[in-house]
Amino acid sequence: MKIAKLLLVTLTIFVSIAIYYLSMTFDSEKQSTNSYKYSLLSDPFLQLPTETSVNVVWFTEFKGDFHVVKYGEQLTRKAIANTTKLSRVREDQDSQLDQPPTKSFRDIWRHEAIVKGLKPNRRVSYKVESIEDQQVISSDVFTLSSLPTAETPLKILLTSDHQLMPMTAANLSQVVKTVGQVDAVFFPGDLVNVPDRASEWFDDRRGGAFFPSLQGRANYKLERNGVTTTYHGGEIIQHAPLFTAIGNHEVMGKISPESTLKEEFSQPHPRCVAQAFYQSNVTQVNPTKDAQIETDWIKNNSFNTDTYEEIFSLPQSDAGGKRYYATTFGDIRLISLFVTNIWRSPKLEADAQGRYKESDENINNPQAWGYGQHIFESIAQGSNQYQWLTQELQSEAYQQAKYKIVMLHHPPHTLGGNIVPPYTDPQPKLDYTEEGEVKSRYYDYPIENDYIIRDLIPLLESAGVQLVYYGHSHLWNRFQSDSGMHFLESSNVGNSYGAHVGDNKREIPTYSRKNYVAIGDPNGLSPIMPNIAPLNADSGELLPYIASNDITVFSIFDTATGTVSSYRYDTRVQDDPAILFDQFKLKEN
Ligand SMILES: [Fe+2]
Repeated sequence: MKIAKLLLVTLTIFVSIAIYYLSMTFDSEKQSTNSYKYSLLSDPFLQLPTETSVNVVWFTEFKGDFHVVKYGEQLTRKAIANTTKLSRVREDQDSQLDQPPTKSFRDIWRHEAIVKGLKPNRRVSYKVESIEDQQVISSDVFTLSSLPTAETPLKILLTSDHQLMPMTAANLSQVVKTVGQVDAVFFPGDLVNVPDRASEWFDDRRGGAFFPSLQGRANYKLERNGVTTTYHGGEIIQHAPLFTAIGNHEVMGKISPESTLKEEFSQPHPRCVAQAFYQSNVTQVNPTKDAQIETDWIKNNSFNTDTYEEIFSLPQSDAGGKRYYATTFGDIRLISLFVTNIWRSPKLEADAQGRYKESDENINNPQAWGYGQHIFESIAQGSNQYQWLTQELQSEAYQQAKYKIVMLHHPPHTLGGNIVPPYTDPQPKLDYTEEGEVKSRYYDYPIENDYIIRDLIPLLESAGVQLVYYGHSHLWNRFQSDSGMHFLESSNVGNSYGAHVGDNKREIPTYSRKNYVAIGDPNGLSPIMPNIAPLNADSGELLPYIASNDITVFSIFDTATGTVSSYRYDTRVQDDPAILFDQFKLKEN
């Protein structure tokens, strides 16, 4: 009997232990399912360095309970993040997702922690952690640093117009392979295509979204001559702060429930037009005359840069906020301007609405007009931005800087297509029928009123700016003015529209040869031949530009020597390294 009792107790203990271990296994399986469920939507990236701090930013698709940066030698120091939700990001049926939804908002949270107490020129390890549902979701370990001091040798990546273009990931992987870790990224606009489409920033299924490409997490398959290569981009902005300027692709247009996201992007109205529509509809749209409703209505019926401003923490100016600013980074004084206009088609057919005309169909419907290639923020003499710039150029920080660089999206000098028409307010030209009704509405852009050439460049020249850096035309070319100021466009990451030289004429109206220039730089400078290894045309002649959908280009500014080096990488010859093809030195102050 005693033996039977002992056996029963032993069996009970054995069964209890078995149940305990089984339940442990089940729990850990449950946990591993959960850890599969949650992940960060982006790696962290660096923003807004000061002398003793830098901001770390990352994104998740859950709000989370707690978000923190852990840093220092043993990652024991902590900076708690502030969390906000992106207010305008959406997806629609055109989104490159496995199951694109109908147009709807997407829930994305942004976490930002200020890592303080840093010493200049000292790199520190860090990682981020987001906690959701009692799980800790961690990033890998990266490095951060505060602002470099003057005379610190720096390598700055000059890149632009990524827009998820086919060669972007290949380009950025070559940056890291060629020069290693850079110290900062200067990016003059067109980061994505449609700024309110979340997947273009984070997880476009083709693998080349904005953040993955600049964080070495892209998965972009590029096919060349039957060989497919997967490029991962470069692990760059986890370690180096990103400074941007607004391009036309950072601006969303009129909000409309009937429009796709791309249509919303393509349909901005000038603010003054939205204000006039508001005044004529005020009794319906804002009967209580609420000031906030008025502001929101005018913004939603013209254009906004809200998503761009919500994603990035940038230096700010009193006049322009994040939209235009100046900052000191080591020996560089960087001025980032908001100089861009809406891109519209050059077509002239009766049913075309574009940069030069409204369509005949909409001629009596001003709400449906495009208003030509209108400018989003004025840089004309006397404008807020111009006045702010004038003051900035007189500031001590600017005057003292060894290198003075201005970054803007729209090209002052280029062989590309997008420099035409001139950068000025479209002037409407109306034709009438015999009955006095409007028959056609064309737009003219007098070249003598080009605000970049007439107002901006003389101001920069007189203040001794050494480099004007821009994008927009998807090619590489450079110029130099008589005073020695350099102009560089380095935006060849795919989808190049070519250089307009020889027989490759721009698509222009014939009614003004003066205003609309078919070939060359309309503003009178000759492109400078790359001085190390220019490409050859099929005919054998050397080319003073790179406008290629096979060969991609990036440029590096080295503050130790004051030189800008440009490299080209041929995606058809995957194993070959990037080739240094041009190098120029900034004029001494
Ligand atoms: Fe652009």
